Amino acid sequence: MTDTPLLIVILAAGKGTRMRSAVPKVLHQVAGRSLLGHVIAAAQSAAATRIAVVVGPGMDDVRKEAVKLAPGAEVFVQTEQRGTANALLAARPALAAHSGNVVVLCGDTPLLTAATIAATEVRLGQSDIVVVGFEATDPAGYGRVLTDAYGHVYAIREHKDASEAERTVRFSNSGVMGFRSGRMLEVLDAIGSANANSEFYLTDAVEIGRQKGLSIGSVSTHERETQGVNDRAQLASVEFDWQAHKRAGVMAGGATLVAPETVYFSFDTVIGQDVVIEPFVVFGPGVTVGNNVTIRAFTHIVGADRKIATGARIGDGVDLGPFSRIRPGADLGKGVHVGNFVEVKNAVLEAGAKANHLSYLGDARVGAGANIGAGTITCNYDGFNKHHTDIGAGAFIGSNTALVAPVKVGDGAIIGAGSVIAKDVAADALAITRAPHEERPGWAAKFRTMMARRKK
Ligand code: UD1
Ligand code: CA
Repeated sequence: MTDTPLLIVILAAGKGTRMRSAVPKVLHQVAGRSLLGHVIAAAQSAAATRIAVVVGPGMDDVRKEAVKLAPGAEVFVQTEQRGTANALLAARPALAAHSGNVVVLCGDTPLLTAATIAATEVRLGQSDIVVVGFEATDPAGYGRVLTDAYGHVYAIREHKDASEAERTVRFSNSGVMGFRSGRMLEVLDAIGSANANSEFYLTDAVEIGRQKGLSIGSVSTHERETQGVNDRAQLASVEFDWQAHKRAGVMAGGATLVAPETVYFSFDTVIGQDVVIEPFVVFGPGVTVGNNVTIRAFTHIVGADRKIATGARIGDGVDLGPFSRIRPGADLGKGVHVGNFVEVKNAVLEAGAKANHLSYLGDARVGAGANIGAGTITCNYDGFNKHHTDIGAGAFIGSNTALVAPVKVGDGAIIGAGSVIAKDVAADALAITRAPHEERPGWAAKFRTMMARRKK
């Protein structure tokens, strides 16, 4: 980060044909967030003064995503895909209005970090144009960053246009470039399309800039940060890398992952200290986990979706799973137990509440220390609207109870097993709605004898 104002331009006009999708490439997700969202987040953590996004014609959903995540972002349309320089020039009004540094990113490289952007800014303190390169394991397909005998960068040669000798260079262009705004437009306007693809290559800015007497610098980054997504296999490979990095971070933060490779996090998952996560646990967006929590195998936790954005909070000391399903708006207080086949949605379970088996708790409050028996269901939906269930502190809900919302069970009340509770229950009362027990001595034996006779 420097004091110089920073404009970040994200190129995202590519159609992404190889994804074979009705969804624009940059809206595909890694760790629960769009590729574009990851790049915008990096731009934001690099403290960009302004963000501009270049989209293709008709990419209204990409525009919406950009403006949702970066409300001040300017969105430009590149009418025809004529290369990366042409794409950048679609943002001409933003470039012309900006005085300071400009960093160009690609919308399909979600692993790029703010640190690389910051390093580019620092290098712009000495050079007019900065190329971000990396040592490619296999450089085929990348533009090669060419340096002279003194180590000065003089050109980037696209693979298709490179000579045999140039193709032996492994230092490759990541696609991230930095410019000082001063003579940037002059350089961009001088770029032509006389190359193997007949495209306007942004990479030609290096050679042209040098001819114009501008200074060129480079910084290097790790190959993993530059990984682009062009097809579904690369999408999976980027997800793989992202998860590996996140798991390492979670473990470094003091959590035990018994089988790290089976646990999937979201871009915003927060995990506390001394948390134990057993195998096969999945975190969707918007989940915060406190300290000393145990999450047992096969638990699925999603904190936010399109309807409920509040997230899910798993408080300190919670014991969760195996096979629990925690959904948006769930708030599990200190020491809560939620066990197998229990689903919690938009519900607060206050400290020490327990729902250990086979329940649905939706649109509800469960007071501190209350016990929810196996098979208890909050009947929250009448086919049109959702209704609330309120269970008081210390209440005991017998097994297989249906709580027909809206309904309240007072503090300390006991509900008999198998009840259907459609009216409020007072504090400390006992409520039972099941039919009285009826018993006919010997009936079953007589019945069997009768049936056996009929068969003959
Ligand atoms: C580009 C670089 C190459 C580098 C590689 C790194 C150029 C000419 N080449 O090649 O040196 O090694 O990235 O991955 O820049 N885009 C538009 N409009 C266009 C063309 C592209 O918006 O008309 C966007 C794409 O959506 C993408 C980015 O620019 O986000 C890069 O374009 P792409 O076609 O993937 O470039 P590469 O051939 O991979
Ligand atoms: Ca690419």
